[in-house]
Amino acid sequence: MANFNELKKITTHTLVEMKHKGEKISMLTAYDFTFAKIIDSAGIDVILVGDSASNVMAGHISTLPITLDQMIYHAQSVVRAVDRALVVCDLPFGSYQADSKNALNSSIRIMKEAGAHAIKLEGGFEVVDSVKRIISAGIPVMGHLGLTPQSIYKFGTYTVRAKEKEEADKLINDAKLLEEAGCFAIVLEKIPAKLAKKVASLLTIPVIGIGAGGGVDGQVLVLHDMLGMTKEFNPRFLRRYMNLHDGVKKAVEGYIGDVKSMDFPNENEQY
Ligand code: KIV
Repeated sequence: MANFNELKKITTHTLVEMKHKGEKISMLTAYDFTFAKIIDSAGIDVILVGDSASNVMAGHISTLPITLDQMIYHAQSVVRAVDRALVVCDLPFGSYQADSKNALNSSIRIMKEAGAHAIKLEGGFEVVDSVKRIISAGIPVMGHLGLTPQSIYKFGTYTVRAKEKEEADKLINDAKLLEEAGCFAIVLEKIPAKLAKKVASLLTIPVIGIGAGGGVDGQVLVLHDMLGMTKEFNPRFLRRYMNLHDGVKKAVEGYIGDVKSMDFPNENEQY
Protein backbone atom coordinates (compact mmCIF):
# COMPACT_ATOMS: atom_id res chain seq x y z
CA MET A 1 0.00 0.00 0.00
CA ALA A 2 1.32 3.45 -0.94
CA ASN A 3 2.55 5.48 1.99
CA PHE A 4 0.88 8.91 2.17
CA ASN A 5 4.17 10.71 2.84
CA GLU A 6 6.22 8.74 0.28
CA LEU A 7 4.11 10.19 -2.52
CA LYS A 8 5.53 13.69 -1.75
CA LYS A 9 2.09 15.15 -2.13
CA ILE A 10 1.52 18.83 -1.58
CA THR A 11 -0.35 19.33 1.68
CA THR A 12 -1.73 22.40 3.37
CA HIS A 13 1.39 22.32 5.57
CA THR A 14 3.65 22.35 2.48
CA LEU A 15 1.98 25.58 1.38
CA VAL A 16 2.53 27.26 4.73
CA GLU A 17 6.20 26.14 4.64
CA MET A 18 6.51 27.53 1.10
CA LYS A 19 5.32 30.91 2.31
CA HIS A 20 7.85 30.91 5.11
CA LYS A 21 10.65 29.92 2.73
CA GLY A 22 9.59 32.61 0.25
CA GLU A 23 8.77 30.04 -2.43
CA LYS A 24 5.80 31.15 -4.53
CA ILE A 25 2.76 28.87 -4.82
CA SER A 26 1.33 28.05 -8.26
CA MET A 27 -2.37 27.30 -8.53
CA LEU A 28 -4.68 26.73 -11.52
CA THR A 29 -8.24 25.58 -11.93
CA ALA A 30 -9.20 22.25 -13.49
CA TYR A 31 -12.58 20.61 -13.84
CA ASP A 32 -11.84 17.37 -15.67
CA PHE A 33 -9.52 14.34 -15.63
CA THR A 34 -7.52 15.09 -18.80
CA PHE A 35 -6.49 18.64 -17.98
CA ALA A 36 -5.93 17.80 -14.31
CA LYS A 37 -3.50 15.04 -15.33
CA ILE A 38 -1.53 17.40 -17.58
CA ILE A 39 -1.22 20.23 -15.06
CA ASP A 40 -0.40 17.86 -12.19
CA SER A 41 2.38 16.28 -14.26
CA ALA A 42 3.67 19.79 -15.05
CA GLY A 43 4.16 20.32 -11.31
CA ILE A 44 1.35 22.67 -10.34
CA ASP A 45 1.13 22.99 -6.55
CA VAL A 46 -2.61 23.46 -6.10
CA ILE A 47 -5.51 22.53 -8.37
CA LEU A 48 -8.71 24.40 -7.71
CA VAL A 49 -11.94 22.77 -8.80
CA GLY A 50 -13.45 26.23 -9.02
CA ASP A 51 -17.09 27.08 -9.28
CA SER A 52 -15.91 28.99 -12.37
CA ALA A 53 -16.84 25.61 -13.91
CA SER A 54 -20.28 27.18 -14.01
CA ASN A 55 -19.01 29.69 -16.62
CA VAL A 56 -16.23 27.73 -18.28
CA MET A 57 -17.77 24.26 -18.46
CA ALA A 58 -21.49 24.97 -18.48
CA GLY A 59 -21.67 28.40 -20.16
CA HIS A 60 -23.62 30.16 -17.42
CA ILE A 61 -23.16 33.93 -17.05
CA SER A 62 -22.27 33.60 -13.35
CA THR A 63 -21.03 31.04 -10.83
CA LEU A 64 -24.40 30.91 -9.09
CA PRO A 65 -26.19 28.10 -10.97
CA ILE A 66 -23.65 25.30 -10.42
CA THR A 67 -24.83 22.74 -7.87
CA LEU A 68 -23.05 20.77 -5.16
CA ASP A 69 -23.65 17.53 -7.10
CA GLN A 70 -22.07 19.07 -10.21
CA MET A 71 -19.05 20.32 -8.22
CA ILE A 72 -18.62 16.84 -6.76
CA TYR A 73 -18.70 15.33 -10.27
CA HIS A 74 -15.96 17.75 -11.45
CA ALA A 75 -13.88 17.16 -8.31
CA GLN A 76 -14.13 13.36 -8.65
CA SER A 77 -12.74 13.59 -12.19
CA VAL A 78 -9.86 15.83 -11.06
CA VAL A 79 -8.98 13.76 -7.99
CA ARG A 80 -8.73 10.60 -10.14
CA ALA A 81 -6.02 12.31 -12.21
CA VAL A 82 -3.85 13.84 -9.52
CA ASP A 83 -0.72 12.33 -7.95
CA ARG A 84 0.94 15.35 -6.37
CA ALA A 85 -1.07 18.57 -6.25
CA LEU A 86 -3.35 19.64 -3.42
CA VAL A 87 -6.93 19.51 -4.74
CA VAL A 88 -9.19 22.24 -3.38
CA CYS A 89 -12.88 22.26 -4.29
CA ASP A 90 -15.18 25.29 -4.12
CA LEU A 91 -18.35 25.13 -2.07
CA PRO A 92 -20.88 26.38 -4.62
CA PHE A 93 -23.42 29.13 -4.02
CA GLY A 94 -26.29 27.90 -1.87
CA SER A 95 -24.38 25.01 -0.33
CA TYR A 96 -23.06 26.86 2.75
CA GLN A 97 -24.71 30.22 3.24
CA ALA A 98 -27.72 28.99 5.24
CA ASP A 99 -25.80 28.10 8.40
CA SER A 100 -22.70 26.29 9.67
CA LYS A 101 -24.45 22.91 9.62
CA ASN A 102 -25.28 23.37 5.95
CA ALA A 103 -21.64 24.38 5.33
CA LEU A 104 -20.27 21.36 7.21
CA ASN A 105 -22.61 18.88 5.49
CA SER A 106 -21.67 20.22 2.03
CA SER A 107 -17.95 20.08 2.89
CA ILE A 108 -18.27 16.50 4.15
CA ARG A 109 -19.94 15.49 0.86
CA ILE A 110 -17.05 17.01 -1.12
CA MET A 111 -14.41 15.26 0.97
CA LYS A 112 -16.24 11.92 1.13
CA GLU A 113 -17.72 11.64 -2.37
CA ALA A 114 -15.01 13.41 -4.38
CA GLY A 115 -11.91 12.78 -2.27
CA ALA A 116 -10.84 16.44 -2.47
CA HIS A 117 -8.20 17.56 0.02
CA ALA A 118 -9.74 20.87 1.07
CA ILE A 119 -12.65 23.18 0.39
CA LYS A 120 -12.81 26.88 -0.48
CA LEU A 121 -15.61 29.28 0.36
CA GLU A 122 -16.22 32.98 -0.19
CA GLY A 123 -16.63 35.64 2.47
CA GLY A 124 -15.22 37.02 5.70
CA PHE A 125 -16.81 37.53 9.10
CA GLU A 126 -20.17 36.21 7.87
CA VAL A 127 -18.70 32.73 7.24
CA VAL A 128 -16.34 32.52 10.21
CA ASP A 129 -18.61 30.24 12.26
CA SER A 130 -18.93 27.91 9.31
CA VAL A 131 -15.17 27.92 8.75
CA LYS A 132 -14.59 26.93 12.39
CA ARG A 133 -17.18 24.16 12.25
CA ILE A 134 -15.79 22.72 9.00
CA ILE A 135 -12.21 22.80 10.34
CA SER A 136 -13.33 21.17 13.61
CA ALA A 137 -14.41 18.18 11.48
CA GLY A 138 -10.85 17.91 10.13
CA ILE A 139 -11.50 19.57 6.78
CA PRO A 140 -8.98 22.21 5.63
CA VAL A 141 -10.53 25.48 4.48
CA MET A 142 -9.25 28.09 2.02
CA GLY A 143 -10.86 31.54 2.26
CA HIS A 144 -11.70 33.88 -0.64
CA LEU A 145 -11.96 37.67 -0.28
CA GLY A 146 -12.06 40.74 -2.53
CA LEU A 147 -14.10 40.12 -5.65
CA THR A 148 -16.26 37.20 -4.60
CA PRO A 149 -18.18 36.17 -7.74
CA GLN A 150 -20.98 34.43 -5.83
CA SER A 151 -22.01 37.92 -4.61
CA ILE A 152 -22.02 39.48 -8.08
CA TYR A 153 -25.65 40.55 -7.78
CA LYS A 154 -24.78 42.42 -4.56
CA PHE A 155 -21.73 44.14 -6.11
CA GLY A 156 -23.36 44.74 -9.50
CA THR A 157 -20.03 44.63 -11.41
CA TYR A 158 -16.81 42.63 -11.70
CA THR A 159 -14.62 45.72 -11.17
CA VAL A 160 -11.66 45.98 -8.76
CA ARG A 161 -12.73 45.70 -5.10
CA ALA A 162 -11.50 47.43 -1.93
CA LYS A 163 -10.17 50.58 -3.58
CA GLU A 164 -11.69 52.74 -0.84
CA LYS A 165 -10.34 52.74 2.73
CA GLU A 166 -13.51 51.45 4.37
CA GLU A 167 -13.68 48.35 2.17
CA ALA A 168 -9.91 47.84 2.41
CA ASP A 169 -10.07 47.95 6.23
CA LYS A 170 -12.93 45.45 6.23
CA LEU A 171 -10.95 43.15 3.93
CA ILE A 172 -7.90 43.26 6.23
CA ASN A 173 -10.12 42.52 9.21
CA ASP A 174 -11.85 39.64 7.38
CA ALA A 175 -8.48 38.17 6.37
CA LYS A 176 -7.33 38.20 10.00
CA LEU A 177 -10.59 36.61 11.14
CA LEU A 178 -10.22 33.82 8.57
CA GLU A 179 -6.66 33.17 9.70
CA GLU A 180 -7.74 33.10 13.37
CA ALA A 181 -10.59 30.73 12.46
CA GLY A 182 -7.99 28.30 11.08
CA CYS A 183 -7.99 28.77 7.28
CA PHE A 184 -4.78 27.35 5.76
CA ALA A 185 -4.73 29.93 2.93
CA ILE A 186 -6.73 32.77 1.43
CA VAL A 187 -7.42 33.75 -2.17
CA LEU A 188 -7.57 37.50 -2.84
CA GLU A 189 -9.34 38.36 -6.09
CA LYS A 190 -9.07 41.62 -8.03
CA ILE A 191 -7.95 44.09 -5.38
CA PRO A 192 -5.17 46.72 -5.48
CA ALA A 193 -1.69 45.15 -5.42
CA LYS A 194 -0.62 47.37 -2.50
CA LEU A 195 -3.48 46.15 -0.33
CA ALA A 196 -2.89 42.49 -1.26
CA LYS A 197 0.80 42.83 -0.35
CA LYS A 198 -0.14 44.32 3.00
CA VAL A 199 -2.55 41.44 3.74
CA ALA A 200 0.12 38.88 2.79
CA SER A 201 2.61 40.55 5.14
CA LEU A 202 0.10 40.62 8.02
CA LEU A 203 -0.82 36.93 7.77
CA THR A 204 1.26 33.85 8.49
CA ILE A 205 -0.86 31.70 6.14
CA PRO A 206 -0.34 31.92 2.37
CA VAL A 207 -2.22 34.53 0.37
CA ILE A 208 -2.84 33.52 -3.24
CA GLY A 209 -3.80 36.26 -5.66
CA ILE A 210 -5.75 36.58 -8.88
CA GLY A 211 -5.54 40.13 -10.14
CA ALA A 212 -3.93 41.08 -6.84
CA GLY A 213 -0.35 41.81 -7.96
CA GLY A 214 2.97 40.15 -7.27
CA GLY A 215 3.36 40.95 -3.56
CA VAL A 216 1.40 37.89 -2.43
CA ASP A 217 2.53 34.31 -1.77
CA GLY A 218 1.21 32.70 -4.94
CA GLN A 219 -0.92 33.12 -8.04
CA VAL A 220 -4.04 31.46 -9.38
CA LEU A 221 -5.59 31.69 -12.85
CA VAL A 222 -8.46 29.96 -14.57
CA LEU A 223 -6.82 27.32 -16.78
CA HIS A 224 -9.00 27.96 -19.82
CA ASP A 225 -8.20 31.67 -19.67
CA MET A 226 -4.41 31.26 -19.42
CA LEU A 227 -4.47 28.70 -22.25
CA GLY A 228 -6.25 31.24 -24.44
CA MET A 229 -9.37 29.15 -24.91
CA THR A 230 -11.68 31.98 -23.88
CA LYS A 231 -11.61 35.00 -26.20
CA GLU A 232 -14.18 37.33 -24.73
CA PHE A 233 -12.65 37.58 -21.21
CA ASN A 234 -9.79 40.11 -21.23
CA PRO A 235 -9.01 41.43 -17.74
CA ARG A 236 -5.71 43.27 -17.27
CA PHE A 237 -4.41 40.62 -14.87
CA LEU A 238 -4.73 37.75 -17.36
CA ARG A 239 -1.54 36.51 -19.04
CA ARG A 240 -2.24 34.09 -21.89
CA TYR A 241 0.40 31.37 -22.35
CA MET A 242 -1.17 29.94 -25.52
CA ASN A 243 -3.78 30.73 -28.12
CA LEU A 244 -5.51 27.39 -27.83
CA HIS A 245 -8.78 28.79 -29.17
CA ASP A 246 -7.25 29.46 -32.58
CA GLY A 247 -5.10 26.32 -32.43
CA VAL A 248 -8.13 24.09 -31.81
CA LYS A 249 -10.19 25.93 -34.42
CA LYS A 250 -7.46 25.51 -37.01
CA ALA A 251 -7.12 21.79 -36.22
CA VAL A 252 -10.88 21.25 -36.52
CA GLU A 253 -11.00 23.19 -39.81
CA GLY A 254 -8.19 20.96 -41.09
CA TYR A 255 -10.09 17.84 -40.04
CA ILE A 256 -13.33 19.03 -41.69
CA GLY A 257 -11.43 19.79 -44.89
CA ASP A 258 -9.75 16.35 -44.87
CA VAL A 259 -13.07 14.56 -44.31
CA LYS A 260 -14.83 16.50 -47.08
CA SER A 261 -11.96 15.99 -49.54
CA MET A 262 -11.71 12.30 -48.54
CA ASP A 263 -8.05 12.81 -47.58
CA PHE A 264 -8.93 11.32 -44.18
CA PRO A 265 -8.72 8.43 -43.52
CA ASN A 266 -5.89 7.32 -45.80
CA GLU A 267 -4.70 3.75 -46.33
CA ASN A 268 -2.57 3.74 -43.19
CA GLU A 269 -5.46 4.97 -41.08
CA GLN A 270 -7.77 2.04 -41.72
CA TYR A 271 -7.89 -1.73 -41.07
O1 KIV B 1 -13.78 29.51 -9.20
C1 KIV B 1 -12.65 29.95 -9.46
O2 KIV B 1 -12.09 29.73 -10.53
C2 KIV B 1 -12.01 30.77 -8.44
C3 KIV B 1 -10.72 31.44 -8.82
C4 KIV B 1 -11.00 32.62 -9.66
C5 KIV B 1 -9.92 31.79 -7.63
O3 KIV B 1 -12.51 30.92 -7.38
